[in-house]
Amino acid sequence: MKGIVLAGGLGSRLNPLTKVTNKHLLPVYNRPMIYFPIQALVDAGISEILIVTGGNSAGDFLRLLGNGKQFGLKHLDYTYQEGEGGIAAALSLAEYFADNDPICVILGDNIYEKPFRTSADDFKSRGRGAKIHLKKVQNPQRFGVPIISGDRIVKIEEKPKVPQSDYAVTGLYMYDPAVFEIIKTLKPSGRGELEITDVNNAYIQRGEMTYDIIDGWWSDAGTFDSLIRTNILVASQHEGNPEEMHQGVLQDSASILRAQ
Ligand code: G1P
Repeated sequence: MKGIVLAGGLGSRLNPLTKVTNKHLLPVYNRPMIYFPIQALVDAGISEILIVTGGNSAGDFLRLLGNGKQFGLKHLDYTYQEGEGGIAAALSLAEYFADNDPICVILGDNIYEKPFRTSADDFKSRGRGAKIHLKKVQNPQRFGVPIISGDRIVKIEEKPKVPQSDYAVTGLYMYDPAVFEIIKTLKPSGRGELEITDVNNAYIQRGEMTYDIIDGWWSDAGTFDSLIRTNILVASQHEGNPEEMHQGVLQDSASILRAQ
């Protein structure tokens, strides 16, 4: 299975932090944001990785990551997304790279506490259909939200005003090669983008979607609030148990962590 990190977009929800640089180069505690999704793929046993970048400072990815030596990789691949066509449009640029292999796609601003190797191995051995990863959240209306009936997902709604479950569809997706044909059938959404949620709904309609519930915490980092939240969660891994955080900059963060 090959890995694809989607790190394009203009990061407009983080303006002016993203006015001159790329969202995925912003710091998350002690590392640039993009380190985390790359490390997550490597930890899942994936060593062929494509970075889809775009927007500002795209050349800085090469300077920062090179051939991925710091992740134990021999090489990294890069491609460039012009403009802001959405997550599915960014993914369509990876068709040549996937070359009919199954793929594991991770959004460049999604950070997971625990490795997802078991889920990746499970999908690899099945080799077809699609798989998404859910996490219970307090604010599902910010995300793709599944409508669940029994143990089956019947539909995913993108940022619904009235969420039908308290799960978010997180930014980790596994697809068979049919994904690229599905993307070619998509029409832009209300926000003018090709939505990954529409890709996932196509797999649901074909009866080929499966899912896992994420173990450990998960956070995206695309807004001011989620960026600070992610920083706190990552820092907590370095600083120890939230209950023991009595000093320094993390003092006020214990309450956020207790809610996990
Ligand atoms: C995107 C997806 C959404 C998903 C989220 C995870 O949202 O469209 O379904 O739940 O990533 O981070 P966006 O970052 O475009 O708001």
